[in-house]
Amino acid sequence: MDQYIIKGGVPLKGEVTISGAKNAALGILAAAIMSDEDILIENLPDVKDINVMLEAISEIGAKVDRIDRHTVRISGKDIEEISVDDEYIRRIRASYYFIGALLGKYRHARVPLPGGCNIGSRPIDQHIKGFKALGAEVRIENGTVTADAERLRAAHIYFDVVSVGATINVMMAAVMAEGRTIIENAAKEPHIVDVANFLNSMGADIRGAGTDTIRIRGVERLHGTEYAIIPDQIEAGTFMCMAAATRGDVLIKNVIPKHLEAITAKLIEMGNEVEEYDEAVRVIGAERQRHTDIKTLPYPGFPTDMQPQMAVALSLSEGTSMVTESIFENRFKYVDELSRMGGNIKVEGNVAVVDGIEHFSGAPVSAPDLRAGAALVIAGLAAEGYTTVDEIGYIQRGYENFEDKISALGGLIELVSSDREASRFKLRVVG
Ligand code: EPZ
Repeated sequence: MDQYIIKGGVPLKGEVTISGAKNAALGILAAAIMSDEDILIENLPDVKDINVMLEAISEIGAKVDRIDRHTVRISGKDIEEISVDDEYIRRIRASYYFIGALLGKYRHARVPLPGGCNIGSRPIDQHIKGFKALGAEVRIENGTVTADAERLRAAHIYFDVVSVGATINVMMAAVMAEGRTIIENAAKEPHIVDVANFLNSMGADIRGAGTDTIRIRGVERLHGTEYAIIPDQIEAGTFMCMAAATRGDVLIKNVIPKHLEAITAKLIEMGNEVEEYDEAVRVIGAERQRHTDIKTLPYPGFPTDMQPQMAVALSLSEGTSMVTESIFENRFKYVDELSRMGGNIKVEGNVAVVDGIEHFSGAPVSAPDLRAGAALVIAGLAAEGYTTVDEIGYIQRGYENFEDKISALGGLIELVSSDREASRFKLRVVG
């Protein structure tokens, strides 16, 4: 029963170094199999989702040589399977990136349909729309997506919905299609740009990534490359919220401040100090947060993956804040858990009305999903008393050494597997 046990009330102070971006790495690992030459990828985050993706890559026959926790060499030369085992898609949705990668390289792919998850239904109709536009025949039978194409030819694709996954998946399917493909209404997240830069380093010809129009000139083949993943903007934002909520003073290193602009702007509105450096930001938490309103939007708007963490910081403000979740339909599951800690949030449809409280009080809670789990840890660090967080497997999917990084900032948190270990923690931190 692994869980985090936390003794709250300690302002976090010191320095933390951010790991590579999980959501860039998942796309890049899929794209890596599109070459028959060696691909060296550095600054991988050592998190569960990445390790599952690497298992899936070796399962289809690619050579995977894990040089160290953060570095891997991949070669797609010996891939003989164009179908991905159901086990992987059930464990991580991002396995659906194999459709774009395998279709783009071999003109064939068979990948189980990803399930919905606990933040929404998460359809893939826009992915399929893009594959069909490029000339693939796409069938969904027995819960599996099969995509086949005699030839892949350029298309002018307009996404009805701004979708990170569809943008990355269709970009991969198009890089070796004949002619010039245009993708309109594309997602603009930093990880889209990172995947495009990675593919270009392999010899692809992609322009406009990071804008809503991406132009791709198909090439014959993709060669080997060496590439380092960008820092994780959501991990960085999570630690920024942690510093604010605990009234701490934290230097968050190995970040790209431009990727954090929406988060920085909101934390400053809430009364916190944020100092920007070339590759770091420093957050000095306010004594009391000021209320403000948040609406999640595609990048560069406020990121949906930061919504739960920000709602925790807003819960400690002196007024009422409105949090509007416009991307997913079920991303307020943490509200019930927070109410056990004294949180005062009412959800009406896709809006959460957050009434500020003086402080959280520690309680046993359970992580409903990855980012909500991180938000509950922030609440526990800011709370009076002890908090235990269950289902931390969700958190470990996206945060590397989460409890170690927090402890290094003075946070009183430990990963425990038994009541005895929890009691030992309490004895250690008492007083
Ligand atoms: C990616 O999910 C991220 N996951 C999510 O991060 C992130 O929340 C999301 O982008 C938005 O930024 C990875 O990159 C692995 P979308 P993705 O397609 O690609 C609808 C985390 O915490 N949609 O941009 O699945 C969809 O229902 C995770 O790290 C369609 O309607 O998100 C949603 O409402 C959680 N049809 C909206 O678009 C489609 O074909 C945005 O989804 C595709 C999406």
